[in-house]
Amino acid sequence: MRIPEAPFVRDFIRMSADAWGKGWHERNGGNLSYRLRSEDMAVIGQDPRADGKWVELTRNLPELAGEYFLLTGQGKYMRNVMLDPPANLALIVIDQKGARYQLLWGLSQGGKPSSELPSHLLIHAIKKISSQGLNRVVYHAHPANLIALSFVLPPDSRDFTRALWSMMPECLMVFPEGLGVIPWAVPGGEEIAARSALLMEKYNALIWSHHGVFCAGNSFDEAFGLMETLEKAGEICVKILSMGGARSTPSGQDLRRLADALRLDVNDDFLT
Ligand code: 13P
Ligand code: ZN
Repeated sequence: MRIPEAPFVRDFIRMSADAWGKGWHERNGGNLSYRLRSEDMAVIGQDPRADGKWVELTRNLPELAGEYFLLTGQGKYMRNVMLDPPANLALIVIDQKGARYQLLWGLSQGGKPSSELPSHLLIHAIKKISSQGLNRVVYHAHPANLIALSFVLPPDSRDFTRALWSMMPECLMVFPEGLGVIPWAVPGGEEIAARSALLMEKYNALIWSHHGVFCAGNSFDEAFGLMETLEKAGEICVKILSMGGARSTPSGQDLRRLADALRLDVNDDFLT
């Protein structure tokens, strides 16, 4: 089997196409990364283009030593991933110290991995540990309603979480731990990566105020479903605010009853 036909690459492409269809990826906006499982490795070696060139990571990540990642390239369009995977994706391996990466396949017309590589890798490192190795997907999108809300709601995890939890019961089920929020920051570097990773220790989703959203999941479905749920709640919230504000909202006690009924491991700090 060649790399583009491998099941994990097909799943990656399907998610890119679905995400593009949602309107969350203008131009090259957003990026997606996947940490390979051992069974995914079977295809590597069939079709490699490794040139032996190692590139320094912006920080050492020993947790990711020897890990392989498939991710979108810098400046590449999500809508083009399905048309030409080798040109728009990069398959990289991290060295045995977690200090450098090497391109093994992809970026066939040149380029680099996504400019958000520092955030993707640091979140992968944090999530790999906190999920006992289960987390595989990190996803960044630019969904308009959540971005718009970041101009109106305070840049505070509790305020954002409560606003979205109240929009529909699924929210409490899909992100019972809540979500993190960081105020405006320069994208594409080590600083935003460090701030993001700190919050992703607690949460699976994060608002980058006035920019976009990061999600993590054990599968493509989980990460995509989380983004979808967040943005749907964001859309309802924007509609309510545009209609002049809510006249009734579920109380903290209502949410508590829901959490109890469904036995959700909900973030108590945000319920009280
Ligand atoms: P890349 O094209 O480098 O992935 O950047 C897109 C983006 O959304 C930056 O935050
Ligand atoms: Zn972005």
